[in-house]
Amino acid sequence: MTTLDGDSSLPGAHLFSWPEGFSRIPNSEWTRAPIDDAGENYDRAGRDGWRRSFDPIVSQALAVLETNDVLLDFSCGTGPVTECLLSSEDRPIGVLNVDPSAKLLRVAVEKFRGDDRAAFRLLEWLSQDERLELLTEVVDGCVLERVKVLASTNSVHLYQNPYATFKSWFDALRPGSIVLIASGNIRNTQSPPDSWILGDMVIKIGDIVANLVKREPAFTRYRRVLENAPKMSKHRQFRDSIFPPPRMLESYLENLAKSGFEVLHTFEQTTSVPLNDFAKGVSTYHEGVLSWIGGSEKVESISPTESAVQDRLFFIRYALETLFPGSEAIPFTWTYITCRR
Ligand SMILES: C[S@@+](CC[C@H](N)C(=O)[O-])C[C@H]1O[C@@H](n2cnc3c(N)ncnc32)[C@H](O)[C@@H]1O
Repeated sequence: MTTLDGDSSLPGAHLFSWPEGFSRIPNSEWTRAPIDDAGENYDRAGRDGWRRSFDPIVSQALAVLETNDVLLDFSCGTGPVTECLLSSEDRPIGVLNVDPSAKLLRVAVEKFRGDDRAAFRLLEWLSQDERLELLTEVVDGCVLERVKVLASTNSVHLYQNPYATFKSWFDALRPGSIVLIASGNIRNTQSPPDSWILGDMVIKIGDIVANLVKREPAFTRYRRVLENAPKMSKHRQFRDSIFPPPRMLESYLENLAKSGFEVLHTFEQTTSVPLNDFAKGVSTYHEGVLSWIGGSEKVESISPTESAVQDRLFFIRYALETLFPGSEAIPFTWTYITCRR
C-alpha cells in the first residue's frame, strides 16, 4: 500500500504540534504488522462510495476546531474522517484515530504516516473484564485536554451498550466539547420512504438470495441449510452480531442525555451510493451477510470453500441488481446527531 493521503507539508499544517512526549504512532506490534487486504478493500470502497456522507461531519468540525485543537475520531476504521479533514486542508489541527480493530487502524497508520497531525490509538479487548479499554485508559490526559470534537461515523449502531460507550466519551471529554455522530443504520422516521439503511438492506439481500436458492436448480446444494430452521436461526444471530438490527434514533438520544450530553440537533441526509461501491463494501463482509452459503467457522465450525465464497459475492451482486434493476446508485439515508458535553 502506497497511499499517503495526509500531507503535513501544506502551508498551515506545521503550526500544529502534539504535546511534548506524545508518540503519535505507538511502537506496538500492530503498527508494524502487514496490511490486511480486507481492510484495504473496505477503505477503497468507502472512499468513493459514501464519501459525501462525511461532509456534514467535516463542515461541523471545521466550524469548531481552532489552532492546536484535536478531533478524536472514535471508531475511525481506516480513517476516512482524517482523510476528509486533512488531505485538502492545511488547518493546524490534529486528528486522533481510535479504534478496536488493529487491522483497520493499521491501514489508517499507513495512509497518514506522512502527516504529523494524525495520531493513532488502539482500544484493546480486556478479556478478564469483558470490555474494551476506555479512552481515559489509552489516551494521554494532555491530549484529551485538547480534544474539542469527538466524531463517530458509521459505527454507533455497532456499540452493544451505547450508554456505556457514550458515558466513556463523557468521562474523557472536557466540558463544552462537541460530539458529532453519523450513521447509515439508524431507524429515523424522517428518512425519505424510498431510501435505505444498511441493516434493512442486508436483510433484504438475504431474502432475495433465499428465494433464488429455493427456485434455481443450480443452487440446490444450499437448500438443505435453508430448510433447517434451528441452523438458519443461528446464522441469523450471527448476521445480527455483524449487522445489528437498526435501533430507533430516539434510543440514541435517550442514552446520550442519560450519559450527560446535551443533544443540540439531529438531521438526516440521503446520499446516492454507487451500486458498485456498495456491492464492494458489503462484499468485504460477505460472511456476515450470507454465512449460511457454504457455512461459517463461527456458526457451525465449517469454513466455506473458495467456490462458496465466490457464490456469496455473486449472490450479493445479483440481489442488488434485482432490487435496483438498471440503477447505478442506491439512495441511503444517514442520520446525524450533534451534542455538547
Ligand atoms: C463500519 S466501520 C466505520 C469506520 C469509519 N468510522 C467509517 O466511517 O468508515 C465501524 C468501526 O467501528 C469499530 N467498532 C466496532 N465496535 C466498536 C465498539 N464497541 N467500540 C468502538 N468501536 C467499535 C470497528 O472496529 C470499525 O472500525
